[in-house]
Amino acid sequence: MSEFIAGLPKAELHLHIEGTLEPELKFELAGRNGLELPYANVEEIRAAYAFNDLPSFLKVYYEGMQVLRTEPDFYDLAMAYLRKAASQNVRYAEIFFDPQAHTSRGVSFDVVIRGLRRALIDAERLGVRAQLIMCFLRDFQAEYAMATLLESLPYKEWIVGVGLDSDEKGNPPAKFAAVYERARQEGYLLTMHCDVDQDDSVEHIRQAVQDIGVNRVDHGVNVLEDPALVGELLDRGIGLTCCPISNGYVTDSMKIEGIRKLLDLGVKVTINSDDPAYFTGYVQENLEALNFSDADLAQLERNAFEITWLPRHLKDAYLAEIDAYVAKA
Ligand code: ADE
Ligand code: ZN
Repeated sequence: MSEFIAGLPKAELHLHIEGTLEPELKFELAGRNGLELPYANVEEIRAAYAFNDLPSFLKVYYEGMQVLRTEPDFYDLAMAYLRKAASQNVRYAEIFFDPQAHTSRGVSFDVVIRGLRRALIDAERLGVRAQLIMCFLRDFQAEYAMATLLESLPYKEWIVGVGLDSDEKGNPPAKFAAVYERARQEGYLLTMHCDVDQDDSVEHIRQAVQDIGVNRVDHGVNVLEDPALVGELLDRGIGLTCCPISNGYVTDSMKIEGIRKLLDLGVKVTINSDDPAYFTGYVQENLEALNFSDADLAQLERNAFEITWLPRHLKDAYLAEIDAYVAKA
Protein backbone atom coordinates (compact mmCIF):
# COMPACT_ATOMS: atom_id res chain seq x y z
CA MET A 1 0.00 0.00 0.00
CA SER A 2 1.27 3.49 -0.84
CA GLU A 3 1.80 5.44 2.37
CA PHE A 4 1.76 8.74 0.52
CA ILE A 5 -1.67 7.99 -0.93
CA ALA A 6 -2.97 6.66 2.38
CA GLY A 7 -2.13 9.90 4.18
CA LEU A 8 -3.19 12.26 1.39
CA PRO A 9 -6.52 14.01 2.13
CA LYS A 10 -8.86 12.74 -0.59
CA ALA A 11 -12.21 13.54 -2.18
CA GLU A 12 -14.46 10.99 -3.88
CA LEU A 13 -16.73 12.49 -6.54
CA HIS A 14 -17.90 9.48 -8.53
CA LEU A 15 -19.33 6.80 -6.29
CA HIS A 16 -22.64 5.00 -6.73
CA ILE A 17 -23.82 4.07 -3.26
CA GLU A 18 -25.57 0.99 -4.66
CA GLY A 19 -22.21 0.00 -6.15
CA THR A 20 -20.68 -0.21 -2.67
CA LEU A 21 -22.91 -3.14 -1.67
CA GLU A 22 -20.36 -5.78 -0.67
CA PRO A 23 -21.40 -9.47 -0.80
CA GLU A 24 -21.26 -9.78 3.00
CA LEU A 25 -23.83 -7.01 3.47
CA LYS A 26 -25.88 -8.44 0.59
CA PHE A 27 -26.26 -11.66 2.59
CA GLU A 28 -27.07 -9.80 5.78
CA LEU A 29 -29.78 -7.69 4.12
CA ALA A 30 -31.25 -10.70 2.32
CA GLY A 31 -31.55 -12.50 5.68
CA ARG A 32 -33.06 -9.45 7.37
CA ASN A 33 -35.68 -9.10 4.63
CA GLY A 34 -36.51 -12.81 4.34
CA LEU A 35 -35.10 -13.09 0.81
CA GLU A 36 -33.35 -16.13 -0.63
CA LEU A 37 -30.23 -15.34 -2.68
CA PRO A 38 -29.39 -17.75 -5.53
CA TYR A 39 -25.87 -18.12 -4.07
CA ALA A 40 -24.62 -20.28 -1.21
CA ASN A 41 -21.90 -17.93 0.01
CA VAL A 42 -19.87 -14.78 -0.58
CA GLU A 43 -17.43 -16.55 -2.91
CA GLU A 44 -20.29 -17.66 -5.16
CA ILE A 45 -21.60 -14.11 -5.35
CA ARG A 46 -18.16 -12.80 -6.37
CA ALA A 47 -17.77 -15.60 -8.92
CA ALA A 48 -21.00 -14.42 -10.57
CA TYR A 49 -19.49 -10.96 -11.16
CA ALA A 50 -18.74 -11.75 -14.79
CA PHE A 51 -18.97 -8.54 -16.78
CA ASN A 52 -16.96 -7.08 -19.63
CA ASP A 53 -18.97 -4.06 -20.71
CA LEU A 54 -21.44 -1.57 -19.29
CA PRO A 55 -24.67 -3.51 -19.98
CA SER A 56 -23.32 -6.75 -18.51
CA PHE A 57 -22.14 -4.86 -15.41
CA LEU A 58 -25.47 -3.06 -15.02
CA LYS A 59 -27.35 -6.36 -15.06
CA VAL A 60 -25.38 -7.61 -12.03
CA TYR A 61 -25.61 -4.19 -10.33
CA TYR A 62 -29.42 -3.92 -10.53
CA GLU A 63 -29.91 -7.54 -9.52
CA GLY A 64 -27.66 -7.09 -6.48
CA MET A 65 -29.46 -4.07 -5.06
CA GLN A 66 -32.81 -5.86 -4.77
CA VAL A 67 -31.99 -6.76 -1.17
CA LEU A 68 -32.26 -3.05 -0.25
CA ARG A 69 -35.79 -2.57 1.08
CA THR A 70 -36.02 -0.47 4.25
CA GLU A 71 -34.67 2.77 5.66
CA PRO A 72 -32.17 0.91 7.90
CA ASP A 73 -30.94 -1.03 4.82
CA PHE A 74 -30.02 2.22 3.07
CA TYR A 75 -28.52 3.57 6.29
CA ASP A 76 -26.33 0.48 6.73
CA LEU A 77 -25.26 0.57 3.08
CA ALA A 78 -24.15 4.19 3.28
CA MET A 79 -22.59 3.81 6.72
CA ALA A 80 -20.48 0.86 5.55
CA TYR A 81 -19.17 2.93 2.64
CA LEU A 82 -18.49 5.98 4.80
CA ARG A 83 -16.56 3.87 7.34
CA LYS A 84 -14.45 2.51 4.47
CA ALA A 85 -13.97 6.04 3.12
CA ALA A 86 -12.85 7.27 6.55
CA SER A 87 -10.35 4.41 6.76
CA GLN A 88 -8.79 5.61 3.49
CA ASN A 89 -8.69 9.27 4.61
CA VAL A 90 -11.41 10.30 2.17
CA ARG A 91 -12.37 13.60 3.78
CA TYR A 92 -15.27 14.43 1.50
CA ALA A 93 -17.57 12.43 -0.79
CA GLU A 94 -20.28 13.36 -3.27
CA ILE A 95 -22.39 10.23 -3.43
CA PHE A 96 -24.67 9.19 -6.30
CA PHE A 97 -27.90 7.38 -5.61
CA ASP A 98 -30.33 5.89 -8.13
CA PRO A 99 -33.85 6.48 -6.74
CA GLN A 100 -35.55 4.97 -9.81
CA ALA A 101 -33.72 1.68 -9.27
CA HIS A 102 -35.75 1.48 -6.05
CA THR A 103 -39.04 3.26 -6.79
CA SER A 104 -39.40 1.09 -9.92
CA ARG A 105 -39.57 -1.98 -7.62
CA GLY A 106 -41.84 -0.49 -5.00
CA VAL A 107 -39.41 1.06 -2.50
CA SER A 108 -40.36 4.67 -1.77
CA PHE A 109 -38.17 7.68 -2.46
CA ASP A 110 -38.65 8.72 1.16
CA VAL A 111 -37.25 5.42 2.50
CA VAL A 112 -34.18 5.65 0.26
CA ILE A 113 -33.24 9.23 0.98
CA ARG A 114 -33.96 9.16 4.71
CA GLY A 115 -31.68 6.17 5.22
CA LEU A 116 -28.85 7.71 3.20
CA ARG A 117 -29.24 11.12 4.81
CA ARG A 118 -29.13 9.71 8.35
CA ALA A 119 -25.86 7.92 7.55
CA LEU A 120 -24.31 11.08 6.11
CA ILE A 121 -25.07 12.96 9.31
CA ASP A 122 -23.69 10.16 11.54
CA ALA A 123 -20.54 9.89 9.40
CA GLU A 124 -19.53 13.43 10.24
CA ARG A 125 -18.35 11.96 13.55
CA LEU A 126 -15.91 9.81 11.54
CA GLY A 127 -14.41 12.91 9.95
CA VAL A 128 -16.05 12.39 6.56
CA ARG A 129 -18.28 15.08 5.09
CA ALA A 130 -20.63 13.98 2.29
CA GLN A 131 -23.42 15.22 0.03
CA LEU A 132 -25.91 13.38 -2.20
CA ILE A 133 -26.28 13.56 -5.98
CA MET A 134 -29.51 12.11 -7.37
CA CYS A 135 -29.03 10.24 -10.65
CA PHE A 136 -31.67 9.61 -13.28
CA LEU A 137 -31.60 6.30 -15.14
CA ARG A 138 -31.10 7.21 -18.80
CA ASP A 139 -32.54 3.94 -20.12
CA PHE A 140 -35.92 4.88 -18.63
CA GLN A 141 -38.17 7.51 -20.23
CA ALA A 142 -37.43 11.20 -19.71
CA GLU A 143 -40.94 11.56 -18.24
CA TYR A 144 -40.00 9.22 -15.38
CA ALA A 145 -36.87 11.28 -14.74
CA MET A 146 -39.01 14.43 -14.62
CA ALA A 147 -41.45 12.79 -12.21
CA THR A 148 -38.49 11.76 -10.02
CA LEU A 149 -37.13 15.30 -10.12
CA LEU A 150 -40.50 16.63 -8.93
CA GLU A 151 -40.67 13.94 -6.23
CA SER A 152 -37.26 15.06 -4.95
CA LEU A 153 -38.24 18.70 -4.45
CA PRO A 154 -39.44 18.37 -0.82
CA TYR A 155 -35.98 16.93 -0.04
CA LYS A 156 -34.07 19.55 -2.04
CA GLU A 157 -32.00 20.66 0.94
CA TRP A 158 -30.55 17.15 1.16
CA ILE A 159 -29.48 16.90 -2.50
CA VAL A 160 -26.68 19.00 -3.98
CA GLY A 161 -27.17 18.12 -7.63
CA VAL A 162 -28.35 15.68 -10.27
CA GLY A 163 -26.58 13.14 -12.46
CA LEU A 164 -27.43 10.72 -15.26
CA ASP A 165 -26.30 7.11 -15.35
CA SER A 166 -27.15 3.57 -16.54
CA ASP A 167 -27.01 2.34 -20.14
CA GLU A 168 -25.82 5.11 -22.47
CA LYS A 169 -26.43 3.31 -25.77
CA GLY A 170 -29.20 5.19 -27.59
CA ASN A 171 -29.76 7.44 -24.55
CA PRO A 172 -27.93 10.73 -25.28
CA PRO A 173 -27.83 13.75 -22.96
CA ALA A 174 -30.27 15.55 -25.29
CA LYS A 175 -33.03 13.12 -24.22
CA PHE A 176 -32.93 14.79 -20.78
CA ALA A 177 -32.58 18.45 -21.81
CA ALA A 178 -35.92 19.51 -20.29
CA VAL A 179 -35.26 17.58 -17.07
CA TYR A 180 -31.86 19.23 -16.69
CA GLU A 181 -33.30 22.67 -17.42
CA ARG A 182 -35.87 22.22 -14.65
CA ALA A 183 -33.19 20.83 -12.30
CA ARG A 184 -31.07 23.94 -12.91
CA GLN A 185 -34.09 26.18 -12.20
CA GLU A 186 -34.60 24.33 -8.91
CA GLY A 187 -31.03 25.12 -7.88
CA TYR A 188 -29.44 21.72 -8.43
CA LEU A 189 -25.89 21.52 -9.78
CA LEU A 190 -25.52 19.35 -12.87
CA THR A 191 -23.36 16.44 -13.89
CA MET A 192 -23.86 13.41 -16.12
CA HIS A 193 -22.11 10.23 -17.16
CA CYS A 194 -20.41 10.20 -20.53
CA ASP A 195 -19.15 6.64 -20.16
CA VAL A 196 -15.92 5.53 -21.81
CA ASP A 197 -15.86 4.26 -25.43
CA GLN A 198 -19.61 4.44 -25.98
CA ASP A 199 -21.24 4.91 -29.37
CA ASP A 200 -21.07 8.68 -29.98
CA SER A 201 -19.02 9.34 -26.82
CA VAL A 202 -17.61 12.63 -28.11
CA GLU A 203 -21.02 13.88 -29.31
CA HIS A 204 -22.47 13.02 -25.90
CA ILE A 205 -19.73 15.02 -24.15
CA ARG A 206 -20.39 17.92 -26.53
CA GLN A 207 -24.12 17.83 -25.78
CA ALA A 208 -23.48 17.66 -22.02
CA VAL A 209 -21.09 20.61 -22.07
CA GLN A 210 -22.55 22.86 -24.78
CA ASP A 211 -26.27 22.07 -24.89
CA ILE A 212 -27.05 21.03 -21.31
CA GLY A 213 -24.38 23.18 -19.63
CA VAL A 214 -23.23 20.67 -17.01
CA ASN A 215 -20.91 21.74 -14.20
CA ARG A 216 -18.82 18.61 -14.67
CA VAL A 217 -18.72 15.31 -16.57
CA ASP A 218 -18.52 11.78 -15.13
CA HIS A 219 -15.87 9.69 -16.97
CA GLY A 220 -15.50 11.68 -20.22
CA VAL A 221 -11.94 10.62 -21.21
CA ASN A 222 -13.04 10.37 -24.85
CA VAL A 223 -12.97 14.17 -24.90
CA LEU A 224 -9.32 13.72 -25.98
CA GLU A 225 -10.61 12.83 -29.46
CA ASP A 226 -11.77 16.46 -29.89
CA PRO A 227 -9.08 19.03 -28.98
CA ALA A 228 -11.53 21.94 -29.34
CA LEU A 229 -13.78 20.34 -26.74
CA VAL A 230 -10.77 19.82 -24.44
CA GLY A 231 -10.16 23.57 -24.83
CA GLU A 232 -13.72 24.23 -23.77
CA LEU A 233 -13.30 22.13 -20.61
CA LEU A 234 -10.16 24.11 -19.82
CA ASP A 235 -11.79 27.50 -20.48
CA ARG A 236 -14.81 26.70 -18.35
CA GLY A 237 -12.98 24.81 -15.59
CA ILE A 238 -15.16 21.74 -16.13
CA GLY A 239 -13.74 18.69 -14.37
CA LEU A 240 -13.88 14.99 -15.19
CA THR A 241 -14.50 12.24 -12.63
CA CYS A 242 -12.48 9.29 -13.96
CA CYS A 243 -12.53 5.76 -12.59
CA PRO A 244 -9.53 3.71 -13.79
CA ILE A 245 -10.30 0.32 -12.26
CA SER A 246 -13.90 0.56 -13.46
CA ASN A 247 -12.63 1.38 -16.96
CA GLY A 248 -10.52 -1.77 -16.83
CA TYR A 249 -13.66 -3.85 -16.29
CA VAL A 250 -16.07 -2.30 -18.78
CA THR A 251 -13.67 -1.23 -21.58
CA ASP A 252 -10.43 -2.56 -23.03
CA SER A 253 -8.18 -0.77 -20.50
CA MET A 254 -7.94 1.46 -17.42
CA LYS A 255 -7.32 4.44 -19.79
CA ILE A 256 -4.39 5.60 -17.68
CA GLU A 257 -2.60 7.16 -20.66
CA GLY A 258 -5.65 9.28 -21.38
CA ILE A 259 -5.87 10.35 -17.74
CA ARG A 260 -2.15 11.24 -17.86
CA LYS A 261 -2.69 13.39 -20.99
CA LEU A 262 -5.67 15.18 -19.48
CA LEU A 263 -3.68 15.91 -16.32
CA ASP A 264 -0.74 17.24 -18.37
CA LEU A 265 -3.10 19.46 -20.38
CA GLY A 266 -4.37 21.00 -17.16
CA VAL A 267 -7.88 19.55 -17.32
CA LYS A 268 -9.32 19.13 -13.82
CA VAL A 269 -9.26 15.34 -13.96
CA THR A 270 -9.98 13.38 -10.76
CA ILE A 271 -9.72 9.75 -9.65
CA ASN A 272 -12.68 7.88 -8.20
CA SER A 273 -14.01 4.40 -7.56
CA ASP A 274 -17.43 4.23 -9.32
CA ASP A 275 -18.79 0.88 -8.01
CA PRO A 276 -16.04 -0.38 -5.69
CA ALA A 277 -17.83 -3.50 -4.42
CA TYR A 278 -17.98 -4.77 -8.01
CA PHE A 279 -14.73 -3.33 -9.39
CA THR A 280 -12.70 -4.36 -6.33
CA GLY A 281 -11.06 -1.05 -5.55
CA TYR A 282 -11.88 2.03 -3.51
CA VAL A 283 -10.14 5.41 -4.02
CA GLN A 284 -6.85 4.29 -2.50
CA GLU A 285 -6.58 1.35 -4.92
CA ASN A 286 -7.62 3.48 -7.90
CA LEU A 287 -4.88 6.02 -7.14
CA GLU A 288 -2.35 3.23 -6.67
CA ALA A 289 -3.30 1.72 -10.06
CA LEU A 290 -2.01 4.85 -11.83
CA ASN A 291 1.64 4.56 -10.77
CA PHE A 292 1.93 8.35 -10.85
CA SER A 293 4.42 10.49 -8.91
CA ASP A 294 3.49 11.91 -5.51
CA ALA A 295 3.32 15.38 -7.08
CA ASP A 296 0.83 14.18 -9.70
CA LEU A 297 -1.26 12.38 -7.09
CA ALA A 298 -1.41 15.53 -4.98
CA GLN A 299 -2.48 17.48 -8.08
CA LEU A 300 -5.28 14.98 -8.76
CA GLU A 301 -6.62 15.53 -5.24
CA ARG A 302 -6.26 19.30 -5.59
CA ASN A 303 -8.33 19.00 -8.77
CA ALA A 304 -10.92 16.97 -6.89
CA PHE A 305 -11.36 19.47 -4.05
CA GLU A 306 -11.36 22.32 -6.57
CA ILE A 307 -14.32 20.85 -8.50
CA THR A 308 -16.31 19.72 -5.45
CA TRP A 309 -19.71 21.25 -4.94
CA LEU A 310 -18.64 22.87 -1.68
CA PRO A 311 -18.49 26.55 -0.77
CA ARG A 312 -15.18 28.27 -1.50
CA HIS A 313 -14.05 28.49 2.13
CA LEU A 314 -14.36 24.71 2.59
CA LYS A 315 -12.53 23.99 -0.67
CA ASP A 316 -9.74 26.28 0.51
CA ALA A 317 -9.55 24.55 3.88
CA TYR A 318 -9.14 21.12 2.23
CA LEU A 319 -6.63 22.48 -0.29
CA ALA A 320 -4.61 23.90 2.60
CA GLU A 321 -4.64 20.44 4.22
CA ILE A 322 -3.17 18.97 1.04
CA ASP A 323 -0.47 21.67 0.92
CA ALA A 324 0.44 21.02 4.55
CA TYR A 325 0.59 17.27 3.93
CA VAL A 326 2.77 17.61 0.83
CA ALA A 327 5.12 20.03 2.62
CA LYS A 328 5.67 17.45 5.40
CA ALA A 329 5.80 14.31 3.23
N1 ADE B 1 -24.47 2.96 -12.73
C1 ADE B 1 -23.61 2.53 -11.81
N2 ADE B 1 -22.35 2.59 -12.28
C2 ADE B 1 -22.43 3.08 -13.53
C3 ADE B 1 -21.49 3.39 -14.54
N3 ADE B 1 -20.18 3.21 -14.34
N4 ADE B 1 -21.93 3.87 -15.71
C4 ADE B 1 -23.24 4.05 -15.91
N5 ADE B 1 -24.16 3.79 -15.00
C5 ADE B 1 -23.76 3.31 -13.81
ZN1 ZN C 1 -20.51 5.83 -12.58
